[in-house]
Amino acid sequence: MKKYILTVLGMLCLSPVWGQGQVTKPRITIIATGGTIAGIAAPPAENAYTPAQLTVETLIRQVPQINNKASVKGIQLCNIASQYMTPRIWIRLARVVDSLFSGDHCDGIVVTHGTDTMEETAFFLDLVNSHENPVVFTGSMRPSNSPGADGPANLYNAVCLAADRVAVGKGVLVVMNDHIFSASGVTKTHTVNPQAFENPNRGPMGTIRGGIASLYYPLCEKNVVDERFSIRELANTDLPRVDIVLSYAGATSLLFDALVENGADGIVIAGVGHGNYSYQIENSAKKAVQNGVAVVRATRVLQGGVSSDTENPFEGQIVSRSLSPQKARILLMLALTVSHEPDTIQRMFDQYP
Ligand code: DGL
Repeated sequence: MKKYILTVLGMLCLSPVWGQGQVTKPRITIIATGGTIAGIAAPPAENAYTPAQLTVETLIRQVPQINNKASVKGIQLCNIASQYMTPRIWIRLARVVDSLFSGDHCDGIVVTHGTDTMEETAFFLDLVNSHENPVVFTGSMRPSNSPGADGPANLYNAVCLAADRVAVGKGVLVVMNDHIFSASGVTKTHTVNPQAFENPNRGPMGTIRGGIASLYYPLCEKNVVDERFSIRELANTDLPRVDIVLSYAGATSLLFDALVENGADGIVIAGVGHGNYSYQIENSAKKAVQNGVAVVRATRVLQGGVSSDTENPFEGQIVSRSLSPQKARILLMLALTVSHEPDTIQRMFDQYP
């Protein structure tokens, strides 16, 4: 009987309806990195604008409604257009995320970011973040003071999703224009339209409108490919250098060969069709693999990826599966911190069928 009374008293204290308890809103930290969401249009040419001008405090002030959904704090990690993003900033971001969650400083994180390379930073973080807490990236296609600015709605939705338990354990997510995407599957598919992101192979994970999320399918692309990718294991030194070479009709191997001669640890080929390329690139790729350079056969084609049943497979080749060339590069950079063995690396890519 005594235990029952204690339980009821406990419930009363916790419950906002009957007890004196306060409903504590989820604690969300917004980490700002720049981009168009922080951009300012320069009249009279309304389409011309300068990205990465506003601070995270201003972004938060522009959407007062987020304070109804969460207790929000801001961190300004950097303020750059995302075409200038670098692996060193990726690592800084990942270390801040790890420290915030390890120290229980917040329940979820929103990262505001330029859209040009958002998919890359989000995927890198998805690979090295070992916490189950929600991490949601967002940005905008129109600057903050332009008619039809999409940033405020995207930021509101991102905060609501990061504060929603449905986002726990789903890996890093991207919210843009009322759609929810996995970091591993999302890519930018339009240069200027607010509907600028898609997952070409699986579609969006769900939608979020007015802060209400609905997920279509449980995420089958959960992030941590290899616990040895944990950000705490990554030394302060630079990551292995991996470059991307595009193939096309008549492509020479000049660029490929120059990258190998200049010390590339790995090369991703953005091939034609199902990961194919010119004769010259094919010959250079086989030679590079024999000399210990990791080579991934990816494709410039938006859908389908590259599976192991390629034309003219060669010993030591790695195929990108569903990862785009720019994401295959990121996985290969991290894989090379663990192994140079093609079969071991291929098993990591096979996590993204
Ligand atoms: N310079 C681009 C960037 O920062 C602008 C695109 C955007 O943020 O939407 O990614």
